[in-house]
Amino acid sequence: MAAVDVVARVAYTVSDYLVDSQPQSPATSPFAPIFSSSQSSRRRPNIVTVPHGGDPAASLLRIPSTGLISFTASSNSQTITRLLLHSAELSALPLVLHIAIHDDLSDVLLLRAAVPYLLISATAQQAHDNALLASKLARTRKNAVVHVFYAGHSDSLSEIPEDSVLSYMFGDSKLTDDVDENSLENGHSNGLAGTSLDDPAASDLFRAYKEAALSTSALVKRPLIPLISRGADDAETVIFILGNDNSNIAVDNVRFVSVSLATPLLPSRILNAIPSSANRIIVLEHIATWSMKWTPLYLDIVSAIQHREERPIVQSGTLGDLIQVTEVDVQKLLEQAASATSPFTRLQLGPPSSSEQSLSQGPHVPKHELSYMKILQHLFKERLDISNSPSLVASQGQIATTTPEFALGRVRGQLDQRAELISAVQELLQSSSSDSELHSLLSKWILAKDDPAKSHTLGDAIVKALDSSSDSPLAKRILALKAHFPALSRWIIGSDAWSYDLGSSGLHHAIASGLNVNILILDNLPYTSRNTGDPNRRKHDVGLYAMNHGDVYVASVAVYSSYAQVLQAIIEADRFNGPSVVLAYLPYQSEDVSALDVLKETKLAVDAGYWPLYRWDPSKEAAGKEPFSLDSDAIKNDLQQFLDRQNHLSQLVRSKPQMAAELVSSLGQTVKEERKRKAQQSYNELLIALDAPPLLVLYASDSGNAEKVAKRLCNRGKSRGLTTTLATLDSTPLESLAQSEDIVALITSTAGQGEPPQNGRQFFKALNAAVARGETPLSNLRYAVFGMGDSHYWPRPEDAQYYNKPGKDLASRLEKLGGQPVVPLGLGDDQDADGYETGYKLWEPLLWKVLGVDAVEILEAEPEPITNEHIKAASNYLRGTILEGLNDNSTGALAPSDTQLTKFHGIYQQDDRDIRDERQAQGIEPAYAFMIRVRMPEMDQIADEHGNGTFKITTRATFQFHGVIKRHLKPAIQDINKVLLDTLAACGDVNRNVICSAIPSKSKLHAQVHKYCADISSHLIPRTTAYHEIWLDKKMIAGDAVKDFEPLYGEFYLPRKFKVAVAVPPTNDVDVFANDLGYIAIMDEKGELAGFNVAIGGGMGVTHANKKTYPRAGDVIGFCTPEQGKFVAEAVMLTQRDNGNRADRKNARLKYTIDRMGLDVFKAEVEKRLGYPLQPARPYTFDRNIDDFGWAVGENGNHHFTMFIENGRIQDEPGKDFKTGLREIAKFHTGQFRLTANQHLIVSEIVPENVERVKNVLAKYKMDNLNFTGLRLSSSACVAFPTCGLAMAESERYLPILIDKVEKMCEENGLRNDSIVMRMTGCPNGCARPYLAEVAFVGKAPGSYVMLLGGGYYGQRLNKIYRETVSEPEILDILQPMIKRYALERHEGERFGDWTIRAGYIAPTTSGKEWYDRMGGEGQFRETVAAS
Ligand SMILES: Cc1cc2nc3c(=O)[nH]c(=O)nc-3n(C[C@H](O)[C@H](O)[C@H](O)COP(=O)(O)O)c2cc1C
Ligand code: SF4
Repeated sequence: MAAVDVVARVAYTVSDYLVDSQPQSPATSPFAPIFSSSQSSRRRPNIVTVPHGGDPAASLLRIPSTGLISFTASSNSQTITRLLLHSAELSALPLVLHIAIHDDLSDVLLLRAAVPYLLISATAQQAHDNALLASKLARTRKNAVVHVFYAGHSDSLSEIPEDSVLSYMFGDSKLTDDVDENSLENGHSNGLAGTSLDDPAASDLFRAYKEAALSTSALVKRPLIPLISRGADDAETVIFILGNDNSNIAVDNVRFVSVSLATPLLPSRILNAIPSSANRIIVLEHIATWSMKWTPLYLDIVSAIQHREERPIVQSGTLGDLIQVTEVDVQKLLEQAASATSPFTRLQLGPPSSSEQSLSQGPHVPKHELSYMKILQHLFKERLDISNSPSLVASQGQIATTTPEFALGRVRGQLDQRAELISAVQELLQSSSSDSELHSLLSKWILAKDDPAKSHTLGDAIVKALDSSSDSPLAKRILALKAHFPALSRWIIGSDAWSYDLGSSGLHHAIASGLNVNILILDNLPYTSRNTGDPNRRKHDVGLYAMNHGDVYVASVAVYSSYAQVLQAIIEADRFNGPSVVLAYLPYQSEDVSALDVLKETKLAVDAGYWPLYRWDPSKEAAGKEPFSLDSDAIKNDLQQFLDRQNHLSQLVRSKPQMAAELVSSLGQTVKEERKRKAQQSYNELLIALDAPPLLVLYASDSGNAEKVAKRLCNRGKSRGLTTTLATLDSTPLESLAQSEDIVALITSTAGQGEPPQNGRQFFKALNAAVARGETPLSNLRYAVFGMGDSHYWPRPEDAQYYNKPGKDLASRLEKLGGQPVVPLGLGDDQDADGYETGYKLWEPLLWKVLGVDAVEILEAEPEPITNEHIKAASNYLRGTILEGLNDNSTGALAPSDTQLTKFHGIYQQDDRDIRDERQAQGIEPAYAFMIRVRMPEMDQIADEHGNGTFKITTRATFQFHGVIKRHLKPAIQDINKVLLDTLAACGDVNRNVICSAIPSKSKLHAQVHKYCADISSHLIPRTTAYHEIWLDKKMIAGDAVKDFEPLYGEFYLPRKFKVAVAVPPTNDVDVFANDLGYIAIMDEKGELAGFNVAIGGGMGVTHANKKTYPRAGDVIGFCTPEQGKFVAEAVMLTQRDNGNRADRKNARLKYTIDRMGLDVFKAEVEKRLGYPLQPARPYTFDRNIDDFGWAVGENGNHHFTMFIENGRIQDEPGKDFKTGLREIAKFHTGQFRLTANQHLIVSEIVPENVERVKNVLAKYKMDNLNFTGLRLSSSACVAFPTCGLAMAESERYLPILIDKVEKMCEENGLRNDSIVMRMTGCPNGCARPYLAEVAFVGKAPGSYVMLLGGGYYGQRLNKIYRETVSEPEILDILQPMIKRYALERHEGERFGDWTIRAGYIAPTTSGKEWYDRMGGEGQFRETVAAS
């Protein structure tokens, strides 16, 4: 059995916490397999992993110090160094550090003097015994014990069963009784044994070791001895061995002493091991790369024998691999020792270790931390000087370079040398010997010595002048210091481990040094693990500490929250003349975690105020400015509201002091009256309620169905004379139910995969916890449950458990807790004929019966539920109460009905879904922010000032800004209008922005088509002035306002949204068939624009498992001239306005109207409104729906560059500063930026003289990179999480990760450059037009997608559902063989979508109505059976 396995098993059994340090990927922890296979043990420790390159000391110090902690790692110098830095604190923990080594003790022996105990195990059996001993010792002494063992060793050994180990560790072990204390001494008594030679503290430690060793010996029935001797008692030579003494060689006249306890190694024990006959001692240590002259054990032995009168010669040597050593080798060693001319000659026994670890190997910089390094490199380039850079390791050694003291010392030294240079330059200036040119250069340098660029160039010029002219001693002195001419940006980079002990980590010295040095401290404790640490071992708030010094620049930043703020802080820190501390947040547990997780953790921490973003610049104070800037928007908003309120009251009182009293008294009066009124009202209500039992209705609902049912139940209860109360499950503590006298009706829908909806999760948690405790607190509760779900949402038979799970769970748990069901569980199923109403209609009457009100006659008509149609009609042409809502500071949200109306103004209310749960747990409202969709572009500044700094090109070739908080909404829209764009009708039940093909190469045609689109758009725009009134304070900036009258829409507007697109063959980049109305440009024989084919009835949105909904590709119905185009659009839109289904929004799009009326009838109606028939459609050919990336030249000689912007997200991120790059181009570019419907961007109409310049900027910001696979270039994803309220799964953040994996398959099969259109959306709404892709994934629940196959390459054919639920492993399993087959079997030019049909994977979809037919694969591939 391998030593590493037995050590892992012991550590697992006896520890409370296990910290396992990970090796560099792809290697995995050798301990981990045992940890995972031991999970059935009686004890299960908490396991923490430390990523490779992470700081193990920081992780260990975070653990509460109760119970035993075991740390497991394979020795590497970086880990040892980090432990060493905190050895003082670690020593006081009940901690065993099990360190596996292979063939060198050099690193671990560094710990020898730093910890109380260090044990070495040479064999696997010893490793087992010492692991037990070390654990016992650490637990009883509450001290750190280092246990070093040889990982490679394995032999058959006797292991102690778990039960015995546990009773030994935790029982009252009086095991030592039958063990002979002398068994610890197998040395040779030479009359000097005794503790008088030993240091008392070390003796004390040794006593404890002895006790533990005795009790362990009793358990394992083997002696555990600190120095194991073998060989003759009267030997003349003693060989001490520190290392892998796994041989059993015996040599005459030689005694071998193997060291098992390296610390504390008492002189008395050493002497005991040396017989008085000995005249030569050879100390062999298994250390390959010791950098000092004397090795530690050698020194111990030399100092111990000072106590003897006759002192043998002590020689030192290196121990190699003993397995291969024979008696002859030992004899040779003895000869070598005898013939050595100097006692300091180094001897060697056994061949040197095969894989010596090299100290010159630099420390590993974890992947995530590289993002900050890149920023520094990017900003400072050759000026950057990292004083503890890994690159210095080779010259300065690992231990030195990784300590802050070293770095600070280095900075100090360099600054001193620079000061020397400055004084030498000044001296030379004063001397009359220098020529005038040199004199001028020197004086310029003195003036500009702190200027990053000038100091460099002037320095170079001075060096050149001095090199050629002067050889005076002063000049030589200057030349010797020439490296210090440039003003460098000096940085020390460290981890948050430095914040535990500011003094000993050296941080305090750096802060107090007054030197111009910048310190970057990376904190990687994830927000979600923030409370797992020992409260007594809290990190110090370095920021606060540094700010208290008054003359230190301090910033707290997080690259995944605000990149711009990081840049700002780093630049300010560099400029600040004094110490600067930048605290950078980068939460990650292991190097493998995705950037997405780091992003989520960062967001949680920043939003909750755990990691506030701020900058403190004392130099601003001197300039009379505020030195502190708070950069966290969330906190800023809360603070602002608080200050506003305070400010308002204090101003009022200050301006009219008498008002204070009046205010208070009149307020009191009003309150009294109001109370009286309320009391009267509740008395009346009480009288009514006395007659009827009360009903409490609790609900949990995600998209509103359950909420609607619950509200209706309440209203119906009221009209039956009941006192009803309505609340969400989460707002009702379980304890209040225990005391409730009411009958409680609970209504819950199902979300995710059988999970409760968001606003019921806490309640479910409390319920489960109470059940787990076996309590019955609800014995008074009388309840009825109605669950709502969809039996086809997860159609696979093995997923049947998810159907209506929360409803079923609720009923069973309440019963377990003692509750009495008064009505049997009711279940509503979306698949029933009347949806969930079918089940509900059976359940509700039973409840009325129990309540005794079933016979009550209802006189009043039930109020009609409020729909979007009501909201539109009552809105006074889209005004609603938006204006009032904007002025309400008590919430970050708008009223629910107003959020429907703001959509017409291009504004969606959203909330950050990554942090929804966290905020709910904190009892605060969701982090509301708004998304603004623009009708056309120019917008980076608006994103920075009002939004979250990023913006997104949408699949409708426009911009969206995310994260605009309510207070910023109006200014943002006003800014948008200033650049002559607007957001009106960017969403809502109206015609949306009209999109058209990008066609860079045909300038004239593009101009014509673009004008055509603009005409249609302005023809169909809503005419209400509400937009200008609400957002622009009635100030008209662009366009004309017309009186409130909607000639096209009327007060009800359209039943649903209406989308128009114009495509120019052969490119179908707008996916013309996905639109309600599409135009296909037709050219005549002369190449002039003749007109357009008209296609109608395209649309993407679907509801999962609702077969009344389906995607549809548009049908071509004829041809019109350019002049007729906008009237055709009007006629189609008005036909839809008057015939669309307004009763059911899920069935309201034009596609359903056409299928209901019939295409011919609809067309006839359109032609009737036009007054003329459309001409027959003309031939055309499409060949792609993706963009043509790269450069193109238009007929007018101007150039165009189509950039690849993955999923349209424009932001600055490490290594990809796209936003900055585009801004730089915008400064001189005279043409346009065009957006494509595939979410990419064209820098268009670049005049020839600007081409070079644009190329340079594109290259500088890597925006010209098109070296991606065909798959990635053809991919597209919608936004989804965290902002889209409808998202059910990740999309924009996940598709690139999935593509990383799928493109590998393509590359392996030679398909690197083959375009396959792959799309993903977070929900079936289909914003990224997934139903027209060759392969698509549509989100169902986190990590679960519907998979579709068989779409047409140029958007001409819908795809079809292939699997109703797939997760990533299933996707990869499906695609792997499919892609391979495609590569082998495809015909020349055959597209993937067409091939999947030919290969029999999927049936072709010929029309939207047949979308569900034959879904789930074909023939041998058919697995998913569509429910009938
Ligand atoms: C994302 C999502 C996941 C769902 N998961 C399930 C499920 O696991 N089991 C089930 O029975 N119904 C499931 N459903 C169906 C809903 O529970 C059902 O449509 C219900 O009427 C929605 O009610 P609500 O609007 O109150 O949330 C799911 C619906 C959605 C949108
Ligand atoms: S497809 Fe769904 S998840 Fe994606 S952006 Fe559109 S609505 Fe949101």
